[in-house]
Amino acid sequence: MKMKIAVLPGDGIGPEITQQSVKVLQAIAERFDHEFSFEEAIVGAAAIDLMGNPLPEATLDLCKKSDAVLFGAIGDPKYDNDPEAKIRPEQGLLRLRKELGLFANIRPVKTYQKLLDQSPLRPERIAGADIEIFRELTGGIYFGEKSTAEDGKSATDVCTYSVEEIERIAHLAFKAAQKRRKKLTLVDKANVLETSRLWRKTVTNLSKEYKDVELDFLFIDNAAMQMILNPTQFDVILTENMFGDILSDEASVIGGSIGLLASASVGNENAMFEPIHGSYPQATGKGIANPIASILSAAMLLDHFNMTEEAEAVRKAVEISINSNVCTPDINKNSEYSTKKVGEFIELNITDPDNHIVNNENVSLGQMTII
Ligand code: IPM
Ligand code: MG
Repeated sequence: MKMKIAVLPGDGIGPEITQQSVKVLQAIAERFDHEFSFEEAIVGAAAIDLMGNPLPEATLDLCKKSDAVLFGAIGDPKYDNDPEAKIRPEQGLLRLRKELGLFANIRPVKTYQKLLDQSPLRPERIAGADIEIFRELTGGIYFGEKSTAEDGKSATDVCTYSVEEIERIAHLAFKAAQKRRKKLTLVDKANVLETSRLWRKTVTNLSKEYKDVELDFLFIDNAAMQMILNPTQFDVILTENMFGDILSDEASVIGGSIGLLASASVGNENAMFEPIHGSYPQATGKGIANPIASILSAAMLLDHFNMTEEAEAVRKAVEISINSNVCTPDINKNSEYSTKKVGEFIELNITDPDNHIVNNENVSLGQMTII
């Protein structure tokens, strides 16, 4: 398959983790005889510094004419701590999602046997958790009208949803549930919010087309608690933009590190793949950032284009790295493996899966040389 991939490394640890997933995709192209071409562009704080715009037109054009976008991370503390800043890195990501029509953000959460003890939650509670969060991505309070009163004493963010916006992502979530354990939980705040009541009504109506899927409902406050108390009760979760943002960070605790969580943002014409974590500025350039969330996002890219065997090869290589303790310090405190080393190990497992150098036993004995 021939594919053009736009690479937007962004800010903070974005460039170092994205480099690893590009290597992994190159290894896949080589092993499975595909032709992937990569072109980089700037976004976020990096783009504000250079062009005064967090999403320069050239970047947007490149994304529109590519088959897929691989996104790193966005954000910089100099803007986080300045509520007066009119231009912010995050605006680049939000505009990109809107312009590309990426209305559904899919965030899988699962546990790895080897990492059960890494989570602050009890292993017996989280073992076997396997959730797919469908977060609406281009509507709601993120994109409603915003204003601050002239006297600066009040501010407004409007939350709006239309039936059409709800239906298009709900269809995707129901279809995903049909292929999984056939359960869909709509998370909302229908006891308080008008928009949530519209979600409930619309999704309930739609459920008639998906009779094999069991639909249930949870208020967001209860869902946040249930996620920690009993995450194995969930299969597919469907929710609006802001609830999905919050709930997915919370859910990352189950897996042991936010550095493991990947996502796919899809629309009718475009698709973008991005880790759910932020730019982690404290770690920039230190080689401690976990590249796995980005690498698993690349696996979701492969899945999206029906390269199932290829995506499986990536996930298998990731599992070998986790099982062999070839991990960054977020999941292995004593690890001496850097972002780049973990990336190289995963790459090597894809290029040459039978190689004895990457034999698990040697790795755990510390005898392995990755380069
Ligand atoms: C995410 C991030 C973004 C969001 C930020 C960086 C704007 O937190 O992708 O989850 O809130 O959507
Ligand atoms: Mg977030």
